[in-house]
Amino acid sequence: PRSIWLSRHGESMYNLDGKIGGDADLSERGQQYAKLLPALVKQSGLPKDAPLTIWTSTLKRTGQTARYLQEELGWEKLQWKALDELDSGVCDGMTYQEIADKYPEDFQARDDDKYNYRYRGGESYRDVVIRLEPIIMELERSENVMIITHQAIVRCIFAYFMEIPQEKSPWMEVPLHTLMKLTPKAYGTEVEKFKADI
Ligand code: F6P
Repeated sequence: PRSIWLSRHGESMYNLDGKIGGDADLSERGQQYAKLLPALVKQSGLPKDAPLTIWTSTLKRTGQTARYLQEELGWEKLQWKALDELDSGVCDGMTYQEIADKYPEDFQARDDDKYNYRYRGGESYRDVVIRLEPIIMELERSENVMIITHQAIVRCIFAYFMEIPQEKSPWMEVPLHTLMKLTPKAYGTEVEKFKADI
């Protein structure tokens, strides 16, 4: 592909409360990010005459983030279950503090080996990397794709294109409200970041 545009969804109500997982709506700020995205993506430099195709997860917050790209730019949106956030199983909807209190051993185990730790009834980063394989394959043979997904998923896709060992991806910083443009070059992938002013 020539470039891949990659972003987390805008801030959600769960992000505000420090809760993980779930299927919350965007917060006020998150909606502002959605509104700014068409301008931000134009600023990043678009291919001539070619619309981008938006890939989102099946969760509300990524669809809501894509809204103005669809409405104002007329871009098509495709939903992928494989782009849903890492499944935190029994911990879904909890804060990290609540997890530490209720499941202290699990909390410690995740900190010790975040890549391999699998939430009870949920997933590990290793599981996510495997379920992302079809996405990566499809991406490799597509052009002009913008992906709006979740923190853990952004980490794994980013690590793949940057050739960072996946074991390191669970610890990478992925700020909200920042659009990344990844452009594969002969010597490696170039990263440009565009931060929304909100
Ligand atoms: O807090 C936002 C979030 O996307 C959660 O839904 C998810 O469980 C978490 O980030 C993933 O990040 P980490 O693996 O660092 O807990």
